[in-house]
Amino acid sequence: LDFTQTSTTRRTGDAERAQILADPGFGSHFTDFMAHARWTAEGGWETSEVLPYGPLQLSPAAAVLHYGQEIFEGLKAFRHADGSIWTFRPEVNAERLQRSARRLALPELPTEEFLASLRAVVAADEPWVPEATSEESLYLRPFMFASEEFLGVRASHTVDYYVIASPAGPYFPRGVQPLVVWITDEYARAGAGGTGAAKCGGNYASSLLGKREAAEHGADEVLFLDSETHTSIDELSGMNVFAVTRDGRLLTPALTGSILEGVTRASILRLAEDRGLGVSEQPLVMSEVLEQLASGEITEMFACGTAAVINPIGEFKAHGGTWTVGDGGSGETTLALRKELTDIQYGRIADRHGWLTRL
Ligand code: COI
Repeated sequence: LDFTQTSTTRRTGDAERAQILADPGFGSHFTDFMAHARWTAEGGWETSEVLPYGPLQLSPAAAVLHYGQEIFEGLKAFRHADGSIWTFRPEVNAERLQRSARRLALPELPTEEFLASLRAVVAADEPWVPEATSEESLYLRPFMFASEEFLGVRASHTVDYYVIASPAGPYFPRGVQPLVVWITDEYARAGAGGTGAAKCGGNYASSLLGKREAAEHGADEVLFLDSETHTSIDELSGMNVFAVTRDGRLLTPALTGSILEGVTRASILRLAEDRGLGVSEQPLVMSEVLEQLASGEITEMFACGTAAVINPIGEFKAHGGTWTVGDGGSGETTLALRKELTDIQYGRIADRHGWLTRL
């Protein structure tokens, strides 16, 4: 796939782009171009192009609109002080997209083609990558969906893949502030044998009512417990969860098949090991975590994901009460891990694990 650019006309002028980049927020502004490739059951991956960003033409009978056969990825392009543009562990996103594709009966996009699509969008949208002086980036959103005009329930014979890009500041509107997290006792995000480990739209759709319930209780996020016993922590609506103990251990739920295999999650585990923190992937039983918060045995908790990076959790709420994490502020280990991860991403310290790829 060569992702040839079909037009170089920008829809956004320089002044408007500068105004957007001054305060991009998250997920509200989009660049001038997008990459596209199409797969058919007969021909495999064929057409590919970079075209002006804009609305898609889709049949109202396109299978994705009815049966949700869709997957996506999220990664960021970072500008370094010398102007060069880098992305973080893109091959891990490529491989996760391939695993998600297998689970959703979609075609796998080879890693090289995935990287080519990112390169093509960032080359076309280079002025949209924020300056290195900010903690901002260009969020890249590859996605793939069933576009065949057919209402029978089976894997689509036509699939479209796009990469859109969106300049990004902090994911949460309040910035990197301690989150209030609502523990839902009613809803689950994913069950055994389901799609929980895949990055598919359906998982996020199933989280929305919980997220609304959280907002109604004054919380920023919702925490889902495992669907079978409703006792162990799975994840938030779109982020993995970590705890830091008083004796210097870092705990996160083990990957059970219903938890998203976060790239940020895996990177934090590695950085924590490097620091000599005892790292443990294990079931995190909610009632025990709440006891350990009350006793001070757990001192910090945080949420992580590509979009949110690392965000402290300050408080949990549930029907049974309220639990403060540490002093309710941002923990030292949480902020140190956040700083180290972003320092690597923005090229401010050595990339000792070889995680960066130049775009
Ligand atoms: C990401 O962190 O990149 C995601 O895809 C999750 C979503 C909350 C934006």
